[in-house]
Amino acid sequence: MSRAAVLCGLGGSLPERIVSNEELAEQLDTSDRWIRTRTGIGQRHVVAPGQSTSDLAVAAGAQALASARATAGRADHGVDPVDPVDLVVLATSTPDRPCPATAPDVAHRLGLGHVPSFDVSAVCTGFVYALATAASMITAGIAGRALVIGADTFSTILDPADRTTRAIFGDGAGAVVLRAGDSGEPGALLGFDLGSDGSGADLITVRAGGSRQRSVPGPAAEGEEFFTMDGRPVFTRAVLDMSRSSQSLLERVGWSAAEVDKVVAHQANIRILNAVGEQLGLEEKQIVANLDRVGNTVAASIPLALRDAVAGGELQPGHRVLLTGFGGGLTWGSAALVWPELETGRPHR
Ligand code: UT7
Repeated sequence: MSRAAVLCGLGGSLPERIVSNEELAEQLDTSDRWIRTRTGIGQRHVVAPGQSTSDLAVAAGAQALASARATAGRADHGVDPVDPVDLVVLATSTPDRPCPATAPDVAHRLGLGHVPSFDVSAVCTGFVYALATAASMITAGIAGRALVIGADTFSTILDPADRTTRAIFGDGAGAVVLRAGDSGEPGALLGFDLGSDGSGADLITVRAGGSRQRSVPGPAAEGEEFFTMDGRPVFTRAVLDMSRSSQSLLERVGWSAAEVDKVVAHQANIRILNAVGEQLGLEEKQIVANLDRVGNTVAASIPLALRDAVAGGELQPGHRVLLTGFGGGLTWGSAALVWPELETGRPHR
């Protein structure tokens, strides 16, 4: 047994407004049929004017903290239920402002005091990267209890005229609490596999707004402030990199694909999830999917899928769980754990 980070709380938040495929089809040259058959998405949530990533992150974080408190109150983990969080890591590619990071504001609004807090930027892999960062700081003894949040509001950076990206992306936030424990406990993070390939930086990008564009006088070229994605090569790489990353982590952890109860992959496209399942030799019942209801929520995608799988009874204590993500950068990453007993309350949305 060695010191490990143990998942002990889970929460999520979605903005109130739902945009259906039908509503998109009224504005753009698309259809419910195209979106459902090509992506598996039926609707997505979008923020109201003035609502930001931190607002969703605070709501998801509060829910995860309440879940951790209720879980600690139920089972005696030898941890004081009121043990304070001493680290906040926020994965986002849509921070409230380009500078400073959004995490300190989130920590402040959650009343967590002067704890270290910072953002992690790895687009759709952000949550797995943030989880690995927080878990490493716990195992290194730098932190004892961490709030890890994935939150994004991609509706704020999409081109209103781009039917492909608007069909896919939705806003949301998901969060977990990690505490120090040992590697034999349910909920212990058993291993990570992380990677990146910057040669694919142009495939998923916002061209304007950074130092390269801003070092040149004058405004950005038209449309460069919007998010763009080259869907087909991204599709291929997503399948390849999530499959490879999952495989190498499974080898390290010593599980066969058949021994995994649930694979919670980044919710980008149901055809990507099925193709990863095929590559790994998984059955349909092993794959968690909630993208029909929320679309691709970027850094929030994996924790929101976890939350929905728990709420729906699909994910049970004792299940062997593999998390795997892929996103801009390009980046990818996987994590493994045995699902713990958690008090989560009922998701309000
Ligand atoms: O989150 C990070 C990771 N992101 C992903 O993993 C996304 C990966 N990519 C994908 O999921 C898919 O590539 C898309 C869903 C983005 C696109 O699906 P596709 O089957 O690869 O379509 P395509 O890009 O090859 O386009 C096929 C056709 C095109 O029309 P033409 O050129 O054949 O006339 C597109 O213009 O579908 C058209 N199209 C649409 N039609 C109706 C693209 N978007 C739409 C739309 N409605 N929303």
